[in-house]
Amino acid sequence: MVILAIETSCDETAVSLVEAEGTFPDARYKILGDALFSQIDIHREYGGVFPAVAKREHAKTLVPMLEQALNAAGLSETPTLPLEHATQKEVEALLEREYDLKDALLAFYASHGKPPVDLIAVTHGPGLEPTLWVGINFAQALGKLWGVKVLGINHMEGHIFSSLFQSDRIAPIEFPALTLLISGGHTEIVLMRDFGSYELVGQTRDDAVGEAFDKVARMLGLPYPGGPEISKRAEARRSAGKVAETAFPRPMLGTNDCDFSFSGLKTAVLYHLKDRDITDHARDEIAQAFEDAVADVLVGKVKRAIEETGAKTLVLGGGVSANTHIRRRFTELKEREYPDLGLYLPPARLTTDNAVMIALAAYARKDELAHSLTADGNLSVSSKTA
Ligand code: KG4
Ligand code: ZN
Repeated sequence: MVILAIETSCDETAVSLVEAEGTFPDARYKILGDALFSQIDIHREYGGVFPAVAKREHAKTLVPMLEQALNAAGLSETPTLPLEHATQKEVEALLEREYDLKDALLAFYASHGKPPVDLIAVTHGPGLEPTLWVGINFAQALGKLWGVKVLGINHMEGHIFSSLFQSDRIAPIEFPALTLLISGGHTEIVLMRDFGSYELVGQTRDDAVGEAFDKVARMLGLPYPGGPEISKRAEARRSAGKVAETAFPRPMLGTNDCDFSFSGLKTAVLYHLKDRDITDHARDEIAQAFEDAVADVLVGKVKRAIEETGAKTLVLGGGVSANTHIRRRFTELKEREYPDLGLYLPPARLTTDNAVMIALAAYARKDELAHSLTADGNLSVSSKTA
């Protein structure tokens, strides 16, 4: 079957077309089309994502993304230009064009006798509710037009699937599996006893780890999103053999649970910076010291969760799992302490938000009945506590 997936939970407008066949979890996937427009350049001048601006941009960009994806998949007759080779001017022209997508899609229907897709999947949370609604309404309109089922998919479940995706299949993992979900809005450890069964083991009590990266970057005068900027600076020091001189606290590392807290760490950086010159040297050094503290806490809590649950597999997911130092620390944890643990890190292309991951997760849920869709900014992937 061909799945059309739509992702608009934050600042990436993404549409993918994925063909899937076989019985999940032994299914085979083929990415037919994957169109993504990142709003990062637009939000950078505000220092973060502005929901109203994000909503407007999603509304503007969804139709061209759908066209891109349909064309890449050979499922539409209207030629458009491949975004990756387009100049900024051409992209702008594309976004401003007037579309008659309805006619194009109906023409497809008329010539093929069926809609171009068999299932529509859309992120319905967690994320920014105004932007989630843009995707949901778009998905529902297409569903009505084509008479195709629309399923709401949890964004965090999508991140788990993207970490497990191996070119054409979902890795055959051993359960129980732990997933560490680290993104701009989430920091949680979730226990999976099977696909679709998620139990919360621990979570942040305040800021998400990506949020802490972004806030610390802002304190250092670095642009949004802060994660990649901090990582670049910290890695430059590490590859020069330098060790951080500053030691920031490791919040909640010693507590008898798997919860996190990152707001204290952020405040510690703020106090450290008070009455100091923020030189380039200070930026690099603090970036490294901050990453060291974050990685210690993440690794420490995951270790505790492995001991408590007897997990056989560890999956890292979410935007922050792109971080080189965090990936290295978890690779070392496996090699040194848990050689039998299956460790899954997302491929670089799928670490940040995308619509392929929504299609992957949707195929596992393809037999679910269509349900009424509402945007839920706080939608949780886990129902109960382990
Ligand atoms: O999953 P994601 O793309 O969006 C959400 O669902 O939130 O995650 C975005 C977050 C941002 O906070 C960004 O700073 C962080 O992921 N991030 C990183 C890196 N790349 C992205 N954090 C640390 N190191 C990175 N290399
Ligand atoms: Zn995400």
